[in-house]
Amino acid sequence: MKTIIITGAASGVGKETAKLLQNEKLILIDKDEKKLKAVAKRYACDCYVCDITNIEKLILVSEDIKKSVKKIDVLINCAGVWTKGELSQQENEHFAEINTYDRIKQIIDTNTFGTIAMIKSVFPIMKKQGYGQIININSQSGIVTEEFCPVYNASKHGSRAFSQAVLTDLAKHNIKMTDVCPGLIKTDFYVNANDELSKEIMDTGLEAKDVVNVIKYLLDLPKDITVPSIEIKNMKNF
Ligand SMILES: NC(=O)c1ccc[n+]([C@@H]2O[C@H](COP(=O)([O-])OP(=O)(O)OC[C@H]3O[C@@H](n4cnc5c(N)ncnc54)[C@H](OP(=O)(O)O)[C@@H]3O)[C@@H](O)[C@H]2O)c1
Repeated sequence: MKTIIITGAASGVGKETAKLLQNEKLILIDKDEKKLKAVAKRYACDCYVCDITNIEKLILVSEDIKKSVKKIDVLINCAGVWTKGELSQQENEHFAEINTYDRIKQIIDTNTFGTIAMIKSVFPIMKKQGYGQIININSQSGIVTEEFCPVYNASKHGSRAFSQAVLTDLAKHNIKMTDVCPGLIKTDFYVNANDELSKEIMDTGLEAKDVVNVIKYLLDLPKDITVPSIEIKNMKNF
């Protein structure tokens, strides 16, 4: 049985990942206490309410996890937040609201810092045990830049640059890492960010389980084989 940490496990891709991997030893992390506890109860697994942008809390949780398990086989980074809006639109009330300085910091702190911090926290244990696998749910926005979401682009390019820079170092310690870069996914991601998209646009998205099938493929690869980066899109959203 693998020990697998999933961040962002209370909703969307993280929640669907917990469903697929329910027979493994799961450790779920999210900042939404009510939803996280409901998922952890359903799959009878451990969970930690933690905002991954909170350094003190993240260190406490990672120390606690290290004390409670003998190994960490896999880390799946799903926690993420969205915002959009061209700089030139930010006087418009809607875009002003979702692009305050605090909100911009939250996007970078979650998508970039939080992902890097989670990788940093599991690295010593994976190095010591001599193996490990890390899967980051990045985005198409980590590959291309789009005029309408520069802050989200910056956050996803930041974590992707980190991943690419550490791949060789991780490989020396037999730790695989993959950035999964999906296009639009039909989750509450946009509603959670106070930016509901039209049904017409959402209908062109992937199902969360399409992304989870990619995660499953990566977990089932032979021991010595890794896929550093993989993209997935709905054909209607090309
Ligand atoms: N949906 C898309 O179209 C899409 C496309 C490409 C890539 N992605 C990426 O896919 C990943 C999963 O997104 P999703 O679509 O499943 O969205 P989701 O349904 O909103 O799930 C994200 C989960 O992460 C949690 N979270 C956010 N910030 C956190 C923090 N600082 N600490 C701990 N947990 C935090 C959220 O909690 P709250 O609900 O409390 O915020 C939520 O439970 C994200 O990294 C996203 O960038 C999404």
